Amino acid sequence: MNYVVLTLFPDMIRECMSTSITGRAISNGCLSLNVIDIRDFSKDKHLHVDDYPYGGGAGMVMMADPVYCACEHARSLCKDKKGHIIFMTPSGRRFDQNIAKELSEYDDLIFLCGHYEGIDERVIELEADDSISIGDYVLTGGELPAAVIMDAVSRMVPGVLSNDMSACEESFEDNLLEYPQYTRPEVFMDKRVPEVLLSGHHANIAEWRRQQSLERTAKFRPDLLSKADLSKKDMEYLKKNRLIIEQDNINN
Ligand code: ADE
Repeated sequence: MNYVVLTLFPDMIRECMSTSITGRAISNGCLSLNVIDIRDFSKDKHLHVDDYPYGGGAGMVMMADPVYCACEHARSLCKDKKGHIIFMTPSGRRFDQNIAKELSEYDDLIFLCGHYEGIDERVIELEADDSISIGDYVLTGGELPAAVIMDAVSRMVPGVLSNDMSACEESFEDNLLEYPQYTRPEVFMDKRVPEVLLSGHHANIAEWRRQQSLERTAKFRPDLLSKADLSKKDMEYLKKNRLIIEQDNINN
């Protein structure tokens, strides 16, 4: 996977991506990262990239020309000189695990990060292949959202996670939240690790983990339960524990 990021704050992206798992994946060649400073494409002697909005209003707008030239340069770095330009904006489609999977199929992803009050709409119309939001809140720029998406997509790129790590990923695809994890010591501040996890009984452990996932999902994300693949046993557990009233997506 080749990532290209168009930004006015290249260090934000480099800092985020150079640590931990993504940093290692860049070093070993599973990922590549090109960070392009949009300011390098300013034709102004003071390197301006923003101007006042037509029609008035607060803040500044990023000008079309430097952003357009940066986009064209980014495409030239991609396979077949194409790439897939994603404009980071709170007005885009909302990011989730399914979109992460969809994006992981591309050879090259180009992230266009806006700042200030936004980017001249004409360049978005000309260049953006996709517009994505990471949630219903407004950040100061698209850099953190781009880093969030690169992180989630990178986990799906072959070789980025070690084999035993990649198994954990299945959970969100089931539309259930992850069960809790524990490690040594057995007792911490008078709190014991749940007994079943010390039993060595794999079937009981699996059942307990499933129940924990169901409980957490019912408590924190009841909206997901209606999309989850629930067995009769799951439904019985949810009803018995008053975690659910009625549900019609029962399988087997
Ligand atoms: N830029 C500012 N806020 C954003 C958000 N929530 N998602 C994507 N890009 C953004």
